[in-house]
Amino acid sequence: TIYPVILCGGSGTRLWPMSRKATPKHVLPLTGDETLFEQALRRVAGDDRFAAPIVVAGAAHADLVIAKLDAAAGTRLVIEPAARNTAPAIALAAALLPPEAVMLVCPSDHHIADTAAFRSAALAAAALAREDYLVSFGISADRPETGYGYLRRGAPLPGGYAIREFVEKPDRARAETYLETGEYSWNGGIFAFRAGCLLDELARHRPDMARLVAQAVAQGQWDGAHFHPAPAPFAAISGDSIDYAVMENTDRAAMVPADMGWSDIGNWAALADALADRADAEGNVVRGRADLADCSDVFAMTDGPRISAVGLKDICIVVANGEVLVTSRDGAQIVGKLPGAVDQ
Ligand code: GDD
Ligand code: MG
Repeated sequence: TIYPVILCGGSGTRLWPMSRKATPKHVLPLTGDETLFEQALRRVAGDDRFAAPIVVAGAAHADLVIAKLDAAAGTRLVIEPAARNTAPAIALAAALLPPEAVMLVCPSDHHIADTAAFRSAALAAAALAREDYLVSFGISADRPETGYGYLRRGAPLPGGYAIREFVEKPDRARAETYLETGEYSWNGGIFAFRAGCLLDELARHRPDMARLVAQAVAQGQWDGAHFHPAPAPFAAISGDSIDYAVMENTDRAAMVPADMGWSDIGNWAALADALADRADAEGNVVRGRADLADCSDVFAMTDGPRISAVGLKDICIVVANGEVLVTSRDGAQIVGKLPGAVDQ
């Protein structure tokens, strides 16, 4: 059995004005009628190889998450009293599971087109996790993206490879050299490990964090299916991501290649790419009411008012929450720095 752990945090300012502090990326129906979070739940549902998931969410967004949970499905929810990044969030779930349990850590805000490919990668990853590897899903890298972790493939293992080097968010120049060698994949941000193995590695590389998480769990409380870690020790943690805290440092890192139509929908142009199968003959993708004339490779999405556009190419137009955003595809990456996105 594999225990899915679904992480709900983060804000996604680059998807402003649709995504806001009150309505972060994972609770938006970006790619279809369902939210990305519901899709993450569905990806591990209805298959008895997966146990009911543990969802880890910040207190600020717990209500949004609870509204989407099917209580009958046996899902457990861990409510973080403060945001301390992914390493503590994952460690909380690990501490609530038996040490032998294989956890599958899944972000709540990704798009994965091919569920069958995701599940078979999960099985391969779980098999390596049972051998005490800390396993990452590797995505083929096709551009020098600096917002991702990079995995350097080492010796072959059953269903995957050892990782020779894990580099979180390299600068542009390094990302370019990694791409040229052909030896690197992106870290998809999906991980499998035994709960006990993860806690051991955390204790080795971040002993303070491991100690405070253990305290927060020991002094925490269950309220039905909701777990509340003790606020004082949890708030005392110096936050860090699993990538920096554990994956860069462990010598037990492995990866399984996962070719599953993955996107973390980092910005509006990435969403347009993820929806390419719905584009018209000119490459335009429309969500909501929009009339495009003489346009190509335009993405238009609205939560109400009609968008009308003429003669545009490679543009994203988003109307949401009473705000209008117009950006080139390249500019989509820096939308989070606009005053509207910063001051929301
Ligand atoms: N519960 C909880 N608490 N979840 C969190 C927290 C937190 O404090 N912080 C982040 N998350 C959730 C986010 O909602 C997201 O689903 C996931 O954990 C990853 O966090 P991000 O903040 O989105 O990480 P990133 O995108 O910068 O980088 C990670 O993902 C990349 C792929 O998308 C890294 O793992 C990279 O190495 C990787 O390439
Ligand atoms: Mg992310």
